[in-house]
Amino acid sequence: MEEVCKISDLSEGKGKRFIIDDEEIAIFMVNGKVYALSNICPHQHSAIIYDGIIEEEYVVCPAHGWKFRLSDGKKENGYNGLKSFPVKIIDNKVFVDVSKSKINW
Ligand code: FES
Repeated sequence: MEEVCKISDLSEGKGKRFIIDDEEIAIFMVNGKVYALSNICPHQHSAIIYDGIIEEEYVVCPAHGWKFRLSDGKKENGYNGLKSFPVKIIDNKVFVDVSKSKINW
């Protein structure tokens, strides 16, 4: 597990971009819960997922609107998703395990 940031560095309903162990990560806080997904949209391999719009339990890529579930990175149809990473909150700090990504292709 890598320490990424403090909870207070995150804003409700928004994403933030981090690079951990050469991995581009987008961290979101939605309804007080923290999620870590790959920051690279599989559509055009753009590092822009952090800038996505939250729609209920999904993040919508700002480029062309592909939708990914925050909890596991899957698309609405259950296919072609983003990698998702386990998150732990300890003492108001956010830890992400980049070695345990789940690839949802
Ligand atoms: S780059 Fe994300 S939907 Fe096109």
